[in-house]
Parts: sequence; C-alpha cells; structure tokens
Amino acid sequence: MTATTSSPSQPLPSGRCIIVTGGASGIGLAVTRLLLSEGAAVAVLDRDAAALTHLRQGADGAKVLAQEVSVADPPAVDRAVDRATKELGPPWGVVTCAGIVRDKTLLKLTDDDWRSVLDVNLSGTFYAMRAAALRMKEPKGLGGRMVAIASIVGLRGGFGQANYAASKAGVVALVQTAAKELGRFGITVNAIAPGFVRTPMTAQYGETLEEACKAESPMGTVCEPEDIARSVRYLLSPEAGHITGVVLRVDGGQAIGA
Ligand SMILES: NC(=O)c1ccc[n+]([C@@H]2O[C@H](COP(=O)([O-])OP(=O)(O)OC[C@H]3O[C@@H](n4cnc5c(N)ncnc54)[C@H](O)[C@@H]3O)[C@@H](O)[C@H]2O)c1
Repeated sequence: MTATTSSPSQPLPSGRCIIVTGGASGIGLAVTRLLLSEGAAVAVLDRDAAALTHLRQGADGAKVLAQEVSVADPPAVDRAVDRATKELGPPWGVVTCAGIVRDKTLLKLTDDDWRSVLDVNLSGTFYAMRAAALRMKEPKGLGGRMVAIASIVGLRGGFGQANYAASKAGVVALVQTAAKELGRFGITVNAIAPGFVRTPMTAQYGETLEEACKAESPMGTVCEPEDIARSVRYLLSPEAGHITGVVLRVDGGQAIGA
C-alpha cells in the first residue's frame, strides 16, 4: 500500500529556498507570488531594478531576497545564489524564467541579436542551474528540483524567432542532460513549454498574435502567468520526485493545433 494522496501539493521542505530567475515580471513574478503566498523563502534574480524594488515593497514580511543580477553574468549568478544560500538556506528549487526576445527573420538577424538571446535564455539557464546544483548536492546530497521555462517555439520553431527558438530548444536538451546527470543526487530537472502567455513580453506583439494563438488552441484560449506558475509549483513539490527529464507543454493545446 502506498500512502494516501493529499491535496493540494505537499509543502515545500522547510529551511530551503527557491531561486527564481526573471522573478520580477510575468511568469516569474507569478511563480514568486505563489511561492511567497505559502510561506516559502524565495530568492529572485532579475536585472530590472525598478521591478525588484516594487517586489520588495509588496513583500509585506514575506521571505523574499530580491537581487539585481543578469543571468548572463556567471560570477554574479554564483554570488547571488551563494548569498541566497547563506540568508535563506540551501536551494530546494531553481526556476529559470529570465528570458528575452529579439525577433527578426533569419536574413535580418544580427550577430548581436543572436548572441544576446542565447546568452540570456540558454547560457543564463545553465549558469543558474549549475550554481544551484552545486549547493543542492552538498554537503550530503540534499536533493532538489529544477524547472526551466522553455517554449513550444523550441519544439516546433517560430517565424522570425531563429535565435529564440534555438535558445529554447537548447534549454530542452540542457534539461534532459541535467536530468540524467543529477538524478543520482536526488535532483529532478524538468522543462515547461508554454504557448502564448499574457505577460509584458507578449504585450509588445499586440492583439493580432494573441487572437492567432487562441485560434490554434483546441481550448480557444491563451494562458495567464498563474497557469504556468501552478505547473511549476507541482514540479517543485516533493511528490513530483519521480518526474524528471520531462518537457511539459502548458499551452491549452496550442502546439497540437485546433
Ligand atoms: N509570455 C509567453 O508567451 C512565453 C511563452 C513561452 C515561454 N516564455 C518564457 O517564459 C519566460 C518568462 O517570460 P515572460 O513572458 O514572463 O516575460 P517578462 O518579460 O514578463 O519577464 C521576463 C523577466 O526576465 C528578466 N530578465 C530578462 N533578461 C534578464 C537577465 N539578463 N538577467 C536577469 N533577468 C532578466 C526581465 O527583467 C523580466 O523580469 C521567458 O523565458 C520566456 O521566454 C514566455
């Protein structure tokens, strides 16, 4: 007999923190808010100073450590994760949400457009995962959870998004490899691939794209950041300990089409 199931998700381990990159806006902010609402200690790494100040001001006694860091700067990521470990406890989870777009068709894409998106979306995910993994496996295999935000564009390409699609496909390969390597330390590593989510990132595209994405979805909907946050929370939970190397589409079926 196995233990009876409980609902909602099991509490996160106490004395451990969750690191959220890009946690000051959009999907990352929804993850941060959900975790703080249940009393978790959250370390946010984001490059947007104003949004971080806003987050601190609204924290109202919640356990949040908001640090201004670019995830594309590996020593800065290491320092930030180190500080989080000292002040909040060793990481139980890392959720990588920091991401940017610089859309142009391949013929117009500059070297800088290419590099900057790869630096943040792919390398930034790697730097954060590595920094967290080093603290999760010490001193004696603490275990933990990693959740990377990929995209359905990383699974099927996206017009005008060669840099972004390649970065997200790279995240999927990184996640699957990390899952193989870190399982022995009790660390699970998964990706969530959202479709269109209403955030400041997608606000720049206007209503036409949103309507086109709704038309692609069998549900006729697009996601809110909270829809992604709830899936992240499940993958962070102790009870998700047998799920690793998975790419979970949370897209209202957008990728399969209506
Ligand atoms: N919104 C969507 O439709 C959608 C769909 C699929 C995947 N995603 C992915 O979800 C993640 C979050 O996107 P969002 O829509 O919430 O965007 P957003 O722009 O609202 O939030 C992104 C956050 O990342 C931060 N950030 C950017 N560059 C950074 C850097 N170098 N260092 C640290 N922080 C940095 C920003 O300051 C911001 O707070 C991204 O990885 C994005 O690619 C979004």
